[in-house]
Formats: sequence, structure tokens, C-alpha cells
Amino acid sequence: MSDDAVQALAIQVQRNAKYAHIAPELIERLVREEIAIRRNAKEVVKNTRRRLHQAGAVYMAGAPPYSHWLADLRAAQGDRERLEAVCRTAMAAHQSSRERLPLLARFYHEVLGDLAPVASVLDLACGLNPLAIPWMPLAPGARYAACDVYTDLAAFLQEALPLLGVEGTAEALDLSARTPDTVAGVALLLKTIPCLEQLDRSAGVRLLHEVRARHLVVSFPMQSLGGRRDRGMPAHYRARFAELVQDQPWAVTEHVYESELVFVIDKGKVPG
Ligand SMILES: C[S@@+](CC[C@H](N)C(=O)[O-])C[C@H]1O[C@@H](n2cnc3c(N)ncnc32)[C@H](O)[C@@H]1O
Repeated sequence: MSDDAVQALAIQVQRNAKYAHIAPELIERLVREEIAIRRNAKEVVKNTRRRLHQAGAVYMAGAPPYSHWLADLRAAQGDRERLEAVCRTAMAAHQSSRERLPLLARFYHEVLGDLAPVASVLDLACGLNPLAIPWMPLAPGARYAACDVYTDLAAFLQEALPLLGVEGTAEALDLSARTPDTVAGVALLLKTIPCLEQLDRSAGVRLLHEVRARHLVVSFPMQSLGGRRDRGMPAHYRARFAELVQDQPWAVTEHVYESELVFVIDKGKVPG
């Protein structure tokens, strides 16, 4: 099928508002994959949307009020307590960051404490996690690069990052197909790998090897999307993580929380 026909189907996929802001590079790739296995255009559109729903739309509660949040962040400048309250309210709109809200301070203290003060962060498939910056032990003037597959989320974060006290950039891209070349001290892959591996099974191992950061914080969910705690999940994801780092001379530290299983990889230190 021609590029024009692929683009026409991708535009059709985006006519549903839920998928309107997803990076076209991902939609077009999925459309190409679906064309190879479906009988007609209607099925291609339906199955592309189904996969986009699982990858991203499922986490976001409706259309996020980005301009409202930006106004609230601006109004909260200079007032730490109010800024944290605005960030918490916004993070509640995304399933992944909502699950982390009850343990935010403890989570970043324990996971990044040994690496503090962190001078630069690369947040991969970030969702609304950059709004947790006030709880991260960052160095003054830290750099923060965030990326996710949503163009409207990236535009929001681009404006929000300076209001959170960091020098930041935000980009919309398809991480299941390519790795950003930004260099950072710490890369966050929070609950990201299972999501990307649904789109491309090799995405997890590629990211772990290609991301240009000495420390990688990699986490996996401990509960299902409905919020139910799933007893099989820790063992399943521990095994998947072991496969991903197999034969690598990397030091790994594990942290376990109610909602999340976290591994901190140090690529620059041989395990002792
Ligand atoms: C489980 S959520 C994790 C969000 C965030 N890391 C956190 O833990 O709070 C998965 C995120 O991956 C993003 N995503 C899904 N597919 C993607 C892709 N192909 N490229 C970049 N981001 C993607 C989704 O939009 C969603 O924000």
C-alpha cells in the first residue's frame, strides 16, 4: 500500500478525539502492521485504535485540562505547598502517577536518594510523572528531558517544566521504534517497558542498552489496570527483568512498593 493510503488511514484513526494527539509516527507504523493482517480498511482502523488504547489512552482519565493546570502552576509560583497541591491534582488524572501519589516522597527519597543531587533526568514514556519533580532530589538548575507519545502532553510539559524549577524539554515520539539520544545522569523508565513491549517485543532490551544514562530506574506495575493487586505480577515481571539484564555486568538494586516493583541499574559499576 502507498504512503498516501497509509496516511489517509492514520488520519481516519485520529478522527476519534482519544487518538487525535498521538504521534503520527506510531499510528502510521501500526497501520502498516495492521494492513498486512486485516481484511479491510475498517478492520485496520479498528485494530489500530485498539492497540493505541492499550498503549496510552487507557491511562488518561478523559481530556486533560492542560491550560487550566498551567494557569494553576503559574499562580502557585513561590508557594511550595500550593505548587505541590496543583501537581498532585494533575497527577491524579493519569493512572500511573495516581498510583504513586500515596508514596511520592518516600518513593523518590529511596529510589534516587543514593544518586542525589541528580543533575539531569531523562523521563521516558513519562505520562504526568514530571509533575513529581518537587519530590525528586534534583540539583539546583537540573536538566529534565521528558518524552511520551502524546503531542498535547509534550506541549503542556514544555511549558510546565520551567514552572517546576528545571531547565526542561519535552518531546512527542514513538519509543517503541526509536531511542532518544539525550545524555542524562538518570533515566526513568517507570512502568514503561510492559507498555512498549506490547507494541514491539524488542523495545525493552533496546532501550536498556541504548539509553545514554549511567543509572536507569526501571519499574513494573504490581496491580492490574483496574487497581486490583495481582499476586502473579511481581514474579512475572521479576522474571522479565532478569531476562532483560541477562549477561550484563550491571549492578542492580531492587525496591518493592505496594503498586510498583523498581530496579535501579548502575551501568558503570560491576556487581559486587
Ligand atoms: C504505564 S504509563 C507510565 C507513565 C509514567 N512513566 C509513570 O510511571 O507515571 C505508560 C506511558 O507510556 C506512554 N506510551 C505508550 N506508548 C508509547 C510509545 N510508543 N512511545 C512513547 N510513549 C508511549 C503512554 O502514553 C503512557 O504515558
